[in-house]
Amino acid sequence: MIDLRSDTVTQPTQQMRKAMLAAPVGDDVYAEDPTVNELERRVAQLLGHEAGLFCVSGSMCNMLGVRLLVEPGQEVVCDVQAHIARAEMGGHAAAYGLTMRTFSSTRGRLQTAEVAKIISPSAGPYLVSTAAIAVENTHNFGGGTIQPFDELTAVAELCREHGIGCHLDGARLWNAHVATGVALEAYGRLFDTVSVCFSKGLGAPVGSVLVSTAENIAEARVMRKRLGGGWRQAGVLAAACLYALDHHVQRLADDHAAAHTFAEAVAGSLPTAVNPDTIETNVVVLDTGTAPAPTIAASAAERGVLVSALGPFMIRAVTHLDVSADDCEWAGQLVGKLLAE
Ligand SMILES: Cc1ncc(COP(=O)(O)O)c(C=O)c1O
Repeated sequence: MIDLRSDTVTQPTQQMRKAMLAAPVGDDVYAEDPTVNELERRVAQLLGHEAGLFCVSGSMCNMLGVRLLVEPGQEVVCDVQAHIARAEMGGHAAAYGLTMRTFSSTRGRLQTAEVAKIISPSAGPYLVSTAAIAVENTHNFGGGTIQPFDELTAVAELCREHGIGCHLDGARLWNAHVATGVALEAYGRLFDTVSVCFSKGLGAPVGSVLVSTAENIAEARVMRKRLGGGWRQAGVLAAACLYALDHHVQRLADDHAAAHTFAEAVAGSLPTAVNPDTIETNVVVLDTGTAPAPTIAASAAERGVLVSALGPFMIRAVTHLDVSADDCEWAGQLVGKLLAE
């Protein structure tokens, strides 16, 4: 099977497993796990923030990060295809009573002028007050879209101007960094809270880190425990993340090249499905036209290629460390032929 459903499907490498085995550990609820502490310190430093909190998932980091900025009954504004809006199971509303309002975009690309049109800071008692804006970089359902740095700067300024918070869902910020050369710290410093994931392109089995001020992270630590997310010898997992930081960041460029190869192979059979020139990182979104996406995905699976049907006419393929460029070319040819049939 060539599994392109997501970059979350990777197996930890033998070297990563060795690093996990060798990790010194302690009870992280007492903040005594040296490997977790090292990961939190390093990630905070990389992103230009004071402190970090290691959590089980990107969703948990997003929930905590947004909650630090938004009170119950207030809203966070985000893109209509944002992971926090579509794929976090309503956790922000269910656990914290936050509402969300969305703006539309092309391929998830941020346009600060559009955001400015819909925010309503300090709007009570008649309207819900916007307390924060959340941005996703790279944008998953948009197709691995990189947010332009000048737009990120503009949105951060907009937030500052209105005294509202700014959260970055940076599950794949590593991909944006490798593709653009923009420093992680330059991205990180624009936002009040930032979440990054290790279980996507970086290939770790579990784990995400939320960064912010020391005060915010101390509060998030309490909220994490309240959600049942306090964990003990989590250093075995943090060790995988540290290994990934040291060995799997720069190689993301290979995933980006493989995604381009996949898209070219699809477009070779059906040019309307995807324009390979729009592929910026490791995610390829295909327009299936009138062909039902679930049927195409099922036919591809029967022939050994797994992709995700994310909408009635939308397929997503994501490249990662467990697929080669040749795998991706072959998979792209197969999916392209199925789409053109
Ligand atoms: C952009 C984005 N943010 C957040 C997440 C959530 O990560 P997790 O699955 O670890 O909760 C994902 C997961 O794919 C994602 O793509």
